[in-house]
Amino acid sequence: MSIDVVAGEAVTTVTINRPDKRNALTTALYSALAEALETAATPIVVLTGAGGTFTAGNDLGDFLAHDDSAAGDDTPVRRFQEALLATRAVVVAAVDGPAVGIGATLLLHCDLVYATERSYLQFPFTSLGLVPEFGSSFVLPRLVGPQRAAELLLFGDRVPAPEAHRLGLVNEVLADTAALETRVADRTAALAAQPASSLALTRELLRDTESTSVRERMDVESQHFGKLLHDPATVANLRAKLGRR
Ligand code: COA
Repeated sequence: MSIDVVAGEAVTTVTINRPDKRNALTTALYSALAEALETAATPIVVLTGAGGTFTAGNDLGDFLAHDDSAAGDDTPVRRFQEALLATRAVVVAAVDGPAVGIGATLLLHCDLVYATERSYLQFPFTSLGLVPEFGSSFVLPRLVGPQRAAELLLFGDRVPAPEAHRLGLVNEVLADTAALETRVADRTAALAAQPASSLALTRELLRDTESTSVRERMDVESQHFGKLLHDPATVANLRAKLGRR
């Protein structure tokens, strides 16, 4: 049982590796995931699961332990959630197999989601006698509309990858594991070719949970935009484009 971290020049790949338990997440795994996200020094992070499951969600045994490790503000799961919200890296999820519970809700906080045809998302909280977590009751209605979100969160049925794609929860559906790996490698290479500060700040703008109006957002965008105009990488890019004309 481990979180495997492989760091390249531009991409850190973080793999949930507990296939015998369908990558169910224990407190130790949440802490390791948090650590991986907090320390990732590359502009791109790929999050994936080993052995044909993305993750079966929170370890059900941990839920039963009633030690409050799965709820509250100062817990490994909350640390992981905060790390995913806060990371400056663009987070790309490579989903092959079931993404259940927090395995599905964490995808709402990734920037790009690629999934194999056989994958599915499932939000089974009500059937377990729980409620949605990781802000999903807030984010999902905004992503797919209130009625669709209600369907997903009240019934908790499996949402096959093609349906998740139609709903806008998945960017692309790939035929199989090999096609998924190829596509994710291709897309992360395309991301790595972009200036790192632009990637980080664009992610920050896309994930901004504070702005309440377009004007407020325009102010934040202007600050970043103004700063980037003085960035040497941006200046070099602009000069190169100008030179080509
Ligand atoms: N917590 C703890 N153990 C889990 C688990 C979880 N969330 N999900 C799967 N496992 C364990 C099973 O208990 C089983 O352990 P065992 O081999 O010691 O009996 C092993 O993983 C394999 O599970 P199994 O159900 O046989 O695999 P499957 O491939 O047939 O089905 C899933 C995979 C993901 C569809 C199924 O395991 C599942 O629905 N799991 C529960 C998901 C869930 O409700 N998560 C909580 C969300 S809040």
